[in-house]
Amino acid sequence: MSSFTQNNIVEAVQALIKEELVVFPTETVYGLGARADSSIAIQKIYDAKGRPSNNPLIIHFHSLHQIKEWLTLPPLAEKLGNKFWPGPLTLIIRSSEKICSTARAGLNTVAIRIPSHPIALELLRQTNLPLAAPSANRSGHISPTQVEHVKRSLGSKVKIILDGGACEVGLESTVLDLTTNPPRILRPGKISREEIEKEIGNVELADHKVSENKPLASPGLLFKHYSPDAKVVLFTSSELESYLQPQEVGTIGILFHSSDLKIPNSDAIKAIELSNDPKQYAQQLYAALHELESLGCKLIIVENIPQNPQWKAIENRLSRMISE
Ligand code: TXA
Ligand code: MG
Repeated sequence: MSSFTQNNIVEAVQALIKEELVVFPTETVYGLGARADSSIAIQKIYDAKGRPSNNPLIIHFHSLHQIKEWLTLPPLAEKLGNKFWPGPLTLIIRSSEKICSTARAGLNTVAIRIPSHPIALELLRQTNLPLAAPSANRSGHISPTQVEHVKRSLGSKVKIILDGGACEVGLESTVLDLTTNPPRILRPGKISREEIEKEIGNVELADHKVSENKPLASPGLLFKHYSPDAKVVLFTSSELESYLQPQEVGTIGILFHSSDLKIPNSDAIKAIELSNDPKQYAQQLYAALHELESLGCKLIIVENIPQNPQWKAIENRLSRMISE
């Protein structure tokens, strides 16, 4: 349920202008917002999340017109923006000095997007400032898709949270780097490689299984990321039984999507069935992980997913959670 009122928005706008933090819903996940032109405000994001200062933030705008007041938009970005914004696509372009360098982690590039959630758009319009907003969770933890997840992860660190109910997409935006040739997808998401290639031709998909010792195109590509506080492993249906032998880990969480899977009835098992449609699976995944985590599951086993482009973003997030 959404508890969005004009009063909440006005209070949030005033807080943002005064360099305070505000959590707001987007169509992907909840964001922890601060004005992108203030290093004081931006530093509060890094402190609240415990985020390493070398990991840059995504800057949110309400319109192409507003972006052009702050940055020079290259033709490819304008083309993609016209097609996919407002929506779950983040573009990396050259920055200007107007965007605070702390938000860019000192890089000369900047990640930008126009979100489509009506509360996010209203907040951006009324503030009329670009807002930096990483996902509203402790650094390295899974992103929040509901207000309850934000509260569990950030506790009392943020006073103002705009509630927009459950996020529709459920996984973070596609991140496309337009400063390389060909452009590279640094993080797969709902807007697929195929959809992007239809607009601008060939793009590469970055290998996210990078070594932590190599320089990274995006610090957010660190291999282990988006993890719940539990050991996560993938299983195929034939392996299920071996994972369910009595273990010392307490309750075992299971995420599955094959409706014919036989799951034993046991107090030591908490199984959640997810959709076998990738769009709905994406919507449900983080909420299910948050739930298993809140039940104290120290081992979460996740049924293997199909290997095809529609599951790419989900595969990317799962592969970053699994324990070696
Ligand atoms: O869906 C989303 O994108 C959400 C909502 C709130 O908009 N935001 C989000 O932000 O997921 P965050 O900070 O959790 O992820 C941003 C990713 C990180 O992996 C970061 O390293 C990368 O974008 N990034 C930001 N600026 C970059 C840049 N200039 N160059 C390369 N990567 C960049
Ligand atoms: Mg994040």
